[in-house]
Amino acid sequence: MEKVKPFVKWAGGKNALISQLTNYYPVELKNGNIERYVEPFVGGGAVLLDILQNYKIKEAYAFDINKDLINCYNVIKTDVNKLIAELEMMEKVFISFNTDKREEYFYKVRNEYNSYELGETLSVKRAAEFIFLNRTCFNGLYRVNKNGKFNVPCGKYKNPMICDSDNLKNVSKLIKNVTFEYGDYKKCEKYINCNSFVYFDPPYRPLSITSGFTSYTKEDFSDNNQRELAEFYKKLNFKDAKLMLSNSNPKNTNKEDTFFDEIYGEFNINEVYAKRMINSNTSGRGEISELLITNYEEQPKWNYQTNTTMKIVALS
Ligand SMILES: C[S@@+](CC[C@H](N)C(=O)[O-])C[C@H]1O[C@@H](n2cnc3c(N)ncnc32)[C@H](O)[C@@H]1O
Repeated sequence: MEKVKPFVKWAGGKNALISQLTNYYPVELKNGNIERYVEPFVGGGAVLLDILQNYKIKEAYAFDINKDLINCYNVIKTDVNKLIAELEMMEKVFISFNTDKREEYFYKVRNEYNSYELGETLSVKRAAEFIFLNRTCFNGLYRVNKNGKFNVPCGKYKNPMICDSDNLKNVSKLIKNVTFEYGDYKKCEKYINCNSFVYFDPPYRPLSITSGFTSYTKEDFSDNNQRELAEFYKKLNFKDAKLMLSNSNPKNTNKEDTFFDEIYGEFNINEVYAKRMINSNTSGRGEISELLITNYEEQPKWNYQTNTTMKIVALS
């Protein structure tokens, strides 16, 4: 099977960081000693898909507060062929149009999508609209206004890939045994035990007021939410689960900002490097450091120390 990719572009998506993140996965995952993988802020699911493709785990649970996104995962899991048929139809119509007509079609779909709410049952139509909008909107951004309405304008793409049917089928096969639940991250607690690996990728704490992007839903993620999450992390630490958490590094813009040192002080705070992907200010697209907080010894150091010890033994 070729590499399975996230089916949506997602702000804060971790696809481009996977090769760095894998260095920090717990050794128990690599040894096959993790039974459950849990992702409380799944978003586009880059890490979930990587883990399902490359490691043996018995069970996986994923959560997100975005109800539409969870609807998509469940539709892909159970009804991928109907979804593909719907998306192929939309793609055919869209691609056949000139630029003006494409815009008209985009706003027609957006208005339809904003005119109703997802109910309690799965909706293939809704999942197709969601993926269509994600693939054709500006920057592939999912952003809603205070009333919860999707408000990203039409993007300018020559030939957008709206229906990647091979990838959707591969995602469908991979996630067959994953449980997806809509709701707050705290719902994951009951699934976590000492054989679990949990990866938290919450909305990032904004580096500055202008670069903030926390509107995946109409509720924002404040500093108090970050503190509350740190308390939750500590609670799970007592369950002996392996925990890894991403966030922005405030020191990129303010060396004095010790917010995360304070709330995660007793854990390992590592740095990885990312290209800023979604930012309307192009000067903000350089490489920046991000935090990766683990409650276990991080891999690179672990390998390094082992090698150093071996060298010392060899020399003496
Ligand atoms: C940084 S994104 C995750 C990106 C993901 N790792 C990826 O690779 O695409 C954060 C996600 O958290 C979700 N979210 C925000 N608040 C939440 C909450 N209270 N509980 C669960 N999910 C939440 C957002 O909808 C968003 O999908």
